[in-house]
Amino acid sequence: MGRKLALLSALLCATTAFHVAFSFKDGLVANGNFELAPKASDMNGTVVVGGAHALPAWEISGFVEYIKSGQKQGDMLLVVPEGAYAVRLGNEASIKQRINVIKGMYYSITFVAARTCAQEERLNVSVAPDSGVLPMQTLYSSNGWDAYAWAFRAEYPQVEIVIHNPGVEEDPACGPLIDSVALRALYPPRPTNKNILKNGGFEEGPYVFPNTSWGVLIPPNIEDDHSPLPGWMVESLKAVKYIDSDHFSVPQGRRAIELLAGKESAIAQVARTIPGKNYVLSFAVGDASNSCEGSMIVEAFAGKDTIKVPYESKGKGGFKRAMLKFVAVSARTRIMFLSTFYTMRSDDYSSLCGPVIDDVKMLSLRKP
Ligand SMILES: *[C@@H]1O[C@H](CO)[C@@H](O)[C@H](O)[C@H]1NC(C)=O
Ligand SMILES: *[C@@H]1O[C@H](CO)[C@@H](O)[C@H](O)[C@H]1NC(C)=O
Ligand SMILES: *[C@@H]1O[C@H](CO)[C@@H](O)[C@H](O)[C@H]1NC(C)=O
Repeated sequence: MGRKLALLSALLCATTAFHVAFSFKDGLVANGNFELAPKASDMNGTVVVGGAHALPAWEISGFVEYIKSGQKQGDMLLVVPEGAYAVRLGNEASIKQRINVIKGMYYSITFVAARTCAQEERLNVSVAPDSGVLPMQTLYSSNGWDAYAWAFRAEYPQVEIVIHNPGVEEDPACGPLIDSVALRALYPPRPTNKNILKNGGFEEGPYVFPNTSWGVLIPPNIEDDHSPLPGWMVESLKAVKYIDSDHFSVPQGRRAIELLAGKESAIAQVARTIPGKNYVLSFAVGDASNSCEGSMIVEAFAGKDTIKVPYESKGKGGFKRAMLKFVAVSARTRIMFLSTFYTMRSDDYSSLCGPVIDDVKMLSLRKP
């Protein structure tokens, strides 16, 4: 018992020193699942009161709570998906961590969060000079927890990742819970002679937690220069979901995109084309084997040309292939995919779901 405590306090001392920066590797950041707890003397109930360095490996500010899975808040049971602990950020509270990276490279942050009692929860994720406010109003999964991705370009060899709750709720204990924070280096793909589109198979993208089975949301209004899904933009009102073959049915390779929110959920890429030339856009449409059943339609656009691809989903996986032939009318052609309908999972009527797209290829055709 004594030795265990000594070890723990050594760890705490090591991680609470000032100006610590952690070295980057793909996966959880230091104490990224918050399993290393503040000292008992730094806590008052659930509130971390021991100052900026009380939470190992992080610097905190404002009203930050340390939540144990199974804790009750009113009649709400707080359940933590990974391990036993999570943090909650009250109004204007933040957590931050300094990480050594490679200047000029792109990185994606994935974090798992849940909203609690507030209605309009948002989180501001920033790595100077960039920041993004991720809305959490839409519940995509019925258990309340979702993984979100956000990407940045490292402008310095050392960056500070900040997750901040800009909320102004009456009850400071109504802020979002955060359970896991991970980082992954992104390698922006290039078009090849086999595909004019970049990252058409969606194989390059944000970190996916091996222990969570609900995919990663790529938030709306993501432009292509800082997309966690390199090459693609999410230009819609709602997120799209990045899914992996360990937890879902995926038409090709290890990753794909699920179009979650009907016409409000779209991904796009602008391709270089030669006016007057013939092109063929081919892609796979399927379902993720996540009980998302029914008649679905994926609409694909290439500039002004469009095709509607119907897909009958039994929610058990499977896919079909489709193609759209078109003649380019300008030097840039916008390729876009969306789902015509909204669909809810048949095993719980509160989770949004939809058709999957994958293996998107575009090639120019020789004139017949
Ligand atoms: C702990 O929190 C309670 C209620 O918010 C407060 O009354 C009390 O003074 C706090 N104790 C310490 C040691 O800060
Ligand atoms: C988000 O945080 C960054 C960095 O602190 C700040 O510059 C930006 O204004 C914030 N955005 C919002 C909407 O609060
Ligand atoms: C996944 O779960 C296993 C077993 O519970 C655990 O040892 C591992 O640390 C977890 N991995 C991550 C990245 O959370």
